Amino acid sequence: MPPNRIKIVHSFHELVSTPFGDGINALCWKRELKGDFKEVVEKLAGRDGITTIEDEQLLNLPLSDAGKAAVEILIEDQRLLREHGLEPQLDCIDGYLRDAEPGPVPTDVYSFHADSATVETDTYLCTYFGPSSEGIDNEEVQRKVDIPEIRSALLQRYGGEDDAEFIEWLHDHCFDLHYSPLPTAQPYVFGVGNLWRVAVEYAGCPVPPCIHRAPETLPGQPPRLLLIS
Ligand SMILES: [Fe+2]
Repeated sequence: MPPNRIKIVHSFHELVSTPFGDGINALCWKRELKGDFKEVVEKLAGRDGITTIEDEQLLNLPLSDAGKAAVEILIEDQRLLREHGLEPQLDCIDGYLRDAEPGPVPTDVYSFHADSATVETDTYLCTYFGPSSEGIDNEEVQRKVDIPEIRSALLQRYGGEDDAEFIEWLHDHCFDLHYSPLPTAQPYVFGVGNLWRVAVEYAGCPVPPCIHRAPETLPGQPPRLLLIS
């Protein structure tokens, strides 16, 4: 695990109040959660693709005590984040849509990317069940649009010169947010139960954005339960 950009914190308060700086662009509140999240996932019937789960739905599930303990955590995490002015959502994910025609730079969440925003914000993530999100150090990636073969393929698609308008076009299509790991790169997993706060690309962000991706979802794999804000 490349620890130089990750800081481990020990409470929700520390997670939300620690500023990004000195290159740190990911804060991880490490937790070992009690509760049966598998049972919760199994009881969330009628899933297809991504389903956003409401508190009400969780509370109405017929669950064992361990399942109920998991629900309590799911609701409490969201309550804490809402109290902090955020808008968390809980998703049960059987799979994300992939780019139908990926072209030189696929822009789906399976590709290493930075989140971006027009205002100051951060991304919060917690995987409660299933394979967790993955991160990678900024030093271990290269922007795809800076790789010569990819850039010329994009230029061809754009059908113009490599100028300011092309750069704007790259930006408008989110191509500039996607990264390719270097051959020696060692991505790390966010892990199950940990609540992360990661840096987003926006004008004035004091650190480079945290590069991350969704794990591969394979057919027959159980769905993921993910909090995102
Ligand atoms: Fe993302």
